[in-house]
Order: sequence, then structure tokens, then C-alpha cells
Amino acid sequence: MQMTGLTEFGLGLRIEGFSPDDSGPGTLAGPTVRALLREFGVLHLVDFPDDDDVYGAFARRFGRPEEVFPAEHRAPGHPHIRLQTNVRGVGANAGGQYWHADGSFARIPTSVTLLYCQEAPAEEGETLFADMRAAYRALPDQVRKAVSGLRGRYPCREIAARDMDRAVAMKTVRLSAEDRRRQLEQLRDISRPLVSEDPGTGRRALHLNQHWLREIEGIDAAESAELLQLLYDTATNASRLYRHRWTEGDLLIWDNASVMHKAIPAAVGQRKITRRITIAGEP
Ligand SMILES: [Fe+2]
Repeated sequence: MQMTGLTEFGLGLRIEGFSPDDSGPGTLAGPTVRALLREFGVLHLVDFPDDDDVYGAFARRFGRPEEVFPAEHRAPGHPHIRLQTNVRGVGANAGGQYWHADGSFARIPTSVTLLYCQEAPAEEGETLFADMRAAYRALPDQVRKAVSGLRGRYPCREIAARDMDRAVAMKTVRLSAEDRRRQLEQLRDISRPLVSEDPGTGRRALHLNQHWLREIEGIDAAESAELLQLLYDTATNASRLYRHRWTEGDLLIWDNASVMHKAIPAAVGQRKITRRITIAGEP
């Protein structure tokens, strides 16, 4: 098994020559792979097999996989695998094209995301990752102190209702009135600290989301917009980003508490097919 850093600044680790199940040498046991993820934020496993059963079993090393909703986005026979593709009429759209952590709309957000690449575009279609622990450390002292006590407002119900109406109008998803109601019922408006702390290591990270986080609580709108701009500018500074160009067989795993990510669309006419599993956060 061979491990190589993905960046000069400590974000990301590439792992080759591992055994995806427990059958051979180079097994990535649960505690080992969880510790590597916690340390590096993003893991790139090269040549993972195209086998949903192996994939599902491997994902469980990180915790409990979340069920995919709506059901039409599931890989057949696998309620925890979400097909994400730019091929019209198949699965869900490929990835959020804005800076985000997965599952920020939930009271207990997704902890880990796994994304397997079944078909890679020859041009573009990369995923960008921003190191949110490095971003927190890079803030000017005064700003770092100020944000540590501040919370973000995530008006999830209102945003989800608009998203669903738009998706239905654009025919990217079919949703019954009952599905819509059930989905909205599960959502609450959320107030979440701008800075999270890893209970195991005490390491702190910024927590932002360009879609669900709308403003900072307790300060006026102009001040909130200005501060958020500074936080996003710091977080997405090119010196703290990793850009992943996809190859068939890549499995990327990321820790939503320490990185945020953004999908770049594939070049026109290029197909991208991925399969995603998300792991439920701990209450
Ligand atoms: Fe995402």
C-alpha cells in the first residue's frame, strides 16, 4: 500500500494498492481509515472496484449510511447509494456547484461523504475542496476571535421549498405533493456556530455554506454580508484548495466538518457518472 499527500499544505491523502475488503494485505481497517480521514480531510482511493456491495460494506467503516431521497435517485437495489450524473433522466444532478458541506440542511449534518467515479469526463468536471481548518487558522486574530462566538442562520424550510418547486418546474425530479410535504416536515430552520470544534482533537474549523447559510445572527445585514465575504474569500484562497480531476475507479472520501467542496460542471457533451454514499452524523 502506498500513501502520498495530495497537497503541499497537508490537505488530502492519495492511497494506492489497498485491499477494498478484508481479503488481502493492505486492508484499510475502520479505525485506520477513520484516523487518516480525520487527519487529512480528504482521501483519494485509487482503483476502487466497481461493485456496489463492496462499496456499501466499505462505507460502513465510517458509520451508518443515510437513505437516499427521493427513491428515484437510488442505484437499483441500493437504497443508500445515490446516482449522481449529468446524463439527463438518470439519477440526481451531479453535485452542488457552490461551496458547501453535505447535509448542512439537517439538524445533525452528514459526517462523511464517499463519492465513487464510474465514468469520468475527459475535460473539466473536477471537484474542488477547501481546507476549513486552515481557513480558520488563516483568519486575522481579531476576526478569528469574533467569529468563534457567532452563529449562522440556515432558513432550511424556505430554501428547500423553493428548490423543490424549481426542480419540479425544470423536470429534474418528480415529486408528489405528499413527498414534498414529508420532505419539508423533516426540515427546521437551523442556527449553527460558524466555528466547529473536533471533540477528539480540539481542532477548530470554519463552517460555511453558500446555499443554506443566509446570514450571521445578531449583527446587521450589511455587516453580516461583509463578514461572510471575508470568510469565503479566506476559505477559498487558492493556496488552501485541492482540485480533484476525476479518473474512473476513483473513490473520494471527505470529512464535512473539516472541508467544504464545490462541483465544476463537465465540459459540454462529456458524461460524468458518480455514486455517492453519505454517512449520518452523530447526535
Ligand atoms: Fe456535495
